[in-house]
Order: sequence, then structure tokens, then C-alpha cells
Amino acid sequence: MTDFAGRIIAWQTVHGRHDLPWQRTRDPYRIWLSEIMLQQTQVATVIPYYERFICRFADLHALASAPNEAVMACWAGLGYYSRARNLHRCAQQIVGAYGGEFPRRVEQLAQLPGIGRSTAAAIAALAFGERAAILDGNVRRVLVRHFAIEGYSGHSKVERVLWTRAESLLPAEEIEAYTQGLMDLGATVCARTRPICLACPVNDTCVARREQTIDKLPAPRPARERPVRSATVLAMQDASGAVLLELRPPAGIWGGLLSLPEFEAGATDDAIVAAVNARYGLHIALAEALGEIRHKFTHYTYVMRPRCARVVGATGIAYSSLRRVAEEELETAPLPAPIRRLLLHLSLPVLN
Ligand code: ADE
Repeated sequence: MTDFAGRIIAWQTVHGRHDLPWQRTRDPYRIWLSEIMLQQTQVATVIPYYERFICRFADLHALASAPNEAVMACWAGLGYYSRARNLHRCAQQIVGAYGGEFPRRVEQLAQLPGIGRSTAAAIAALAFGERAAILDGNVRRVLVRHFAIEGYSGHSKVERVLWTRAESLLPAEEIEAYTQGLMDLGATVCARTRPICLACPVNDTCVARREQTIDKLPAPRPARERPVRSATVLAMQDASGAVLLELRPPAGIWGGLLSLPEFEAGATDDAIVAAVNARYGLHIALAEALGEIRHKFTHYTYVMRPRCARVVGATGIAYSSLRRVAEEELETAPLPAPIRRLLLHLSLPVLN
């Protein structure tokens, strides 16, 4: 019987994915972009974003020289926005430090913003044919099950075992098909729930299958309470019905995107009115409180209590961090997905 890698390669040639928009190319720009988009997002979600992104920024130089707001606008809705900020910085660094040519080696790639060890290996293997091991979430699952690796794979001890294993399995040739095959196997056959073991090319050597522990592996992350952060958020409209949104600072959640101005969770109506006056030089009439919206970030749950308000006057102070977004721009403005949903579904008083 051929070895693990040989069976993955043979399987990928027949059953793997060959027609994704970032395949059939060795252009490192396209491969890098797809790998960053695919880091926390599924293929079906990524495809339209990827295609729009490539239309808007055809190559590394176009991306590097674009304003950050344009990059963020193209990413809006895909989530995990630090990926977009790092993508932009990374493009600028490759232009600055490497004359616009991607470095080929994993060690160099892994120094760049937003490129971790696994993403560096995927780019090196898929774009340059370098012999490098990937270990993304899907691949972890395949290896954990096949070799029955116990413990949570985020723990550094387990992580080391996995990397050593991943490197020891690399084939001498056809690294591209092997890399893609492992990803495809994890995504389509060795699924988290209800894997299709009968279709797996390495099922006869899979320890978890033999020991009937497939549904116990990988071991889940030990339970951890997500802290809750609450804020009152304000949907302010001017006389034309446009919403006034705040450009968030580049670092932190939703950095570089437009969002609703935030206030302390328990702020009274008077405190909100006074704060708007002080911050933006606007007089507002505040409407009743609406319900609440919960959004889970990796490290905490963000509870927003939205309030609507109408601008009824201005003190003359410039409101520089605010941007006017007309109703018809709400679909396309660079907004975080939950804020876009909220604004599109909110019965804004002036609009109705
Ligand atoms: N997930 C991460 N990288 C991928 C790729 N190149 N193809 C499909 N799914 C992926």
C-alpha cells in the first residue's frame, strides 16, 4: 500500500477540488489573498469576496497603493477585519522590502503581517512548490483523527506533536496536490460532524475509525466563559435621513470600518445627549430604547443596545470622525456585518 501522502495525492487528483477561482494559478498574489480570506471563512462565502477583490485590486501594486478605506470597504462583511488591515500592510511591505516580488521561503513569508506558519506554508507550497507543511483547522482534524492524537490541539504540547507529524508526512514530490488534497479531505470528507469515512483514501489506517472515536476527536477547546461587554450605540439621522456613522480607529475591533457611536451601557438619556453635543457638536432628540443585539467575538460577547436619534441642530463644531451614509449607501458602505443588518432592519424614524 502506498504511504499516507501517496494516497492523499491520488485521491486529490480524482476527487479533490480543481476549479476554485484561486486554483489553476501559481500567482502568489492570488494564492495569498485566497489563503487569508479562507483563514476563518468557508469557501462558499469567500468566492464572491475574492472575485470582487481581484477585480478591484488586480495585483499587489494596486493593493499596496490603495487607500486603507478602499481595502476595508472591499472586505466589509467578511469579518475578522484585522485580516484586511494586515493584508494591506503586507502588500506594502512586499513592495517596500522585496520590490513587489513575494518571497518564496516559509521563514520569510511567515515574517509578514497576517501570515502565520500554516498560511506561509500553503503559499510556499501552492505558489512555489516548496516542501512545507500546512496545519489549518481542517488539516488538524484529519491528522488528529488519523493518528488518534489526544488533547486540545490549541495547547502547545499537542500543537508541537501535530507540527512534527505534519512535517514527517510530507511527500518528496507533488507537494501542491498533497497540500490541496489534505485541505480538501478535511473540508469535504473528514468533516467535523458526520464525516464520510467510506470515501476517505486513508480510512484503513485511521486509528480513530478503528477505535470508534471519530466523534470524540478532535478534543474540544476546554470550556471558557466569554466575558460580556455592553454598550449603548446610537443610530443618528440628519434631516435628509442619512445616518451619521463614526470611522473607527485603525486598531481594535472593526478598525477602519464605519460603526455606530458608542456610549456607556448605563448612560442616561441626558448623558447621551450631552456626550453627543460635546463629541460632535450636535443637538439630538433621542427616541425610545430598542432591544439588544449580541455579537460573539473570539474573546468576548459584545452586547449592543441601539437607540435612534434625530439631529435637530448643530453648535458649529465640526464632527470630523462622523461620516454621512445615505439610506441607499447602507448596502455597500464599509460597515461590520451586524451593524449593516441592524441599520437595514431598524425602522429608522426619519426613513419611515
Ligand atoms: N482552505 C484554506 N486554503 C484553502 C484552499 N487553498 N482551498 C480550499 N480550501 C482552503
